[in-house]
Amino acid sequence: MTLLEERPSSTLSTGSRCVDEDIDGMRFRVHRDAMTSEDVFREEIEKIFAHSWLYVGHESEIPEPGDYVRRPVAGRPIFMVRGAKSGRVNVFHNTCTHRGAVVCRRDKGNSKVFQCFYHAWTFDSEGKLVGVPGKDAYDDQLDMDALGLGRVAKVESYRGFVFCSFDPDIVDLTTYLAGAREYLDLVVDAMDGDVQIVPGTNEYGMQANWKLLVENSIDGYHAASTHDTYFKYLVSLGTDLSIGVKGHTKDLGNGHAVLEYLAPWGRPIARWEPIFGEEAKPEIDALRQRLVDKHGPERAGRMCDVNRNMLIYPNLIINDIMAVTVRTFMPTSPTSMTVTAWEAAPGDELPEVRQRRLDSFLTFLGPGGFATPDDIEALESCQQGFASGGIEWNDISRGMNREPEATDEEQMRAFWRRWAEQMDGGR
Ligand code: FES
Ligand SMILES: [Fe+2]
Repeated sequence: MTLLEERPSSTLSTGSRCVDEDIDGMRFRVHRDAMTSEDVFREEIEKIFAHSWLYVGHESEIPEPGDYVRRPVAGRPIFMVRGAKSGRVNVFHNTCTHRGAVVCRRDKGNSKVFQCFYHAWTFDSEGKLVGVPGKDAYDDQLDMDALGLGRVAKVESYRGFVFCSFDPDIVDLTTYLAGAREYLDLVVDAMDGDVQIVPGTNEYGMQANWKLLVENSIDGYHAASTHDTYFKYLVSLGTDLSIGVKGHTKDLGNGHAVLEYLAPWGRPIARWEPIFGEEAKPEIDALRQRLVDKHGPERAGRMCDVNRNMLIYPNLIINDIMAVTVRTFMPTSPTSMTVTAWEAAPGDELPEVRQRRLDSFLTFLGPGGFATPDDIEALESCQQGFASGGIEWNDISRGMNREPEATDEEQMRAFWRRWAEQMDGGR
């Protein structure tokens, strides 16, 4: 008898009510309320998004003093700016301390100051209030030091990836990342530590619950069926599909998880396939040799040949596949989300290699790629199916009885266990 059958559901908190794991019975189910309920959505904002480390951006996006990017984090307007005095990455709440207007009104740029357009209070890149028109009206009582921009409670970066948290008591980022660090290191080391976010952003939305994209981003099971068109395209270019999708999935702790596998497509890091063209072969061989010399054949082989789809809980995906993509998303309602994605690349990459990488990225990923529209169709279809009613639970038990393989669902169970823990009040 499961926990759910022993106790009436009304007495269970949301995590235990929605996630039902029965190890002996090899059954793992998620209640569809988790994907449709307004109450669950509101609880997620309070219990998950207010108490996790959330991705803000990459340090390479703001290399110079005064460089800034504005973006929502957990639905809140936030901006990240490189301080002109300190040289450090500052992350501020994007709201004027006078009466509230947003002070950073462009998506990116460089500025010495941020002037609120409402009454023209002015802040510098360290958040300090440096200008107030008609200041004498305050009779020297205005505490300029206390009226600086609000810093987000916690800001830390790991190898250039900047995260923030609204919870001042959260564990440090390195501890939080747990087993995900090893996989981030592989991505960064394969680029010699010189990761750059390529200018340009994919932005799109879909009518589906955000957790469906968590599952989909690390789901090896759907590749052959959903992305049949892409595989046929690869075959038309001469790719041998017999390699299949082989590998394993892993719980990395704290809700993070990875799907690691061999797949038939080429990888710009250094795995040639016909999609790159014959002329690219010598360059890709040279890239591979450089990594072998530096990291040895085993680690270099892992960098070059092995694909990684990684979830950093709760809403950051780093896919090191036919391109390296960084993707984050945020629910706007129980049944909708916005998605933002970038391409990461080595800073010193030759223009022709960069071109190949971008081609590879855009062929599969993004709103104009072979994969993303298919995935959106699948996820919106699930959401539509939930509205039909009649079935209460999703089944996520694939591979519970074995060492998890690439097409199993252990990586999703890792996410759902942590989700349930936080929804039950765990921090
Ligand atoms: S609200 Fe910003 S200056 Fe008044
Ligand atoms: Fe997909």
